[in-house]
Amino acid sequence: MRVDVVTIFPDYLAPLDLSLIGKARAAGTLDLAVHDLRTWTHDVHRTVDDTPYGGGPGMVMRPEPWGEALDALAGPETHLIVPSPAGTPFSQATARALAGDSHLMFACGRYEGIDQRVLDHAASRMRVSEVSLGDYVLFGGEVAVLVVLEAVTRLLPGVLGNADSLVEESHADGVLEAPMYTKPPSWRGLDVPEILRSGDHGKIARWRREQALQRTAERRPDLIAGLERPDQGA
Ligand code: ADE
Repeated sequence: MRVDVVTIFPDYLAPLDLSLIGKARAAGTLDLAVHDLRTWTHDVHRTVDDTPYGGGPGMVMRPEPWGEALDALAGPETHLIVPSPAGTPFSQATARALAGDSHLMFACGRYEGIDQRVLDHAASRMRVSEVSLGDYVLFGGEVAVLVVLEAVTRLLPGVLGNADSLVEESHADGVLEAPMYTKPPSWRGLDVPEILRSGDHGKIARWRREQALQRTAERRPDLIAGLERPDQGA
């Protein structure tokens, strides 16, 4: 997968050299480049923002540098992702869909956002999605890009050492995952649930499913409401 990130703070994306994303880049699974938006400015101050039409506080990112960045980096295969608190909620399902794309381009907005015409113009040439991490406001899209890329990269074939991890984790089947334990069997007076040490894989799977449903009902009743009942199955 090819990924281009455009930002006025390239250093914010430094963690993309680390850990499993760094390894995926080194292995060639992920061909990722981070670009400074100011590369596409032409004035001495390398201006990227201006005051909003219609008034109001803050600054808006001017369309020209973004237009040139898109001309330079994007093609018909590109899926332009714009992190924004006004976007549609990002989820594991979104991550799965993005993992199937061949080219993702992230436009990191700052200040009060990017001039809407950038997105409208791009939408006539490529797919454009505004995604939100949640109902809160960050300084800009950079941290959201780190989150989205981490969620997407770990779904790419060969990135996770053990692909089974993807099957049992939270949100894989619409519920939160059951609690996990490792050695020692007893720690500070707390024991690992006996059933996990029983070796009975059928019982363990049933116990984990019950725990997962119980946790989900307690913590995320909204997810339970969205689960397909067996009698509704296709
Ligand atoms: N940029 C600013 N706030 C954001 C949010 N909640 N999600 C995604 N991008 C953002």
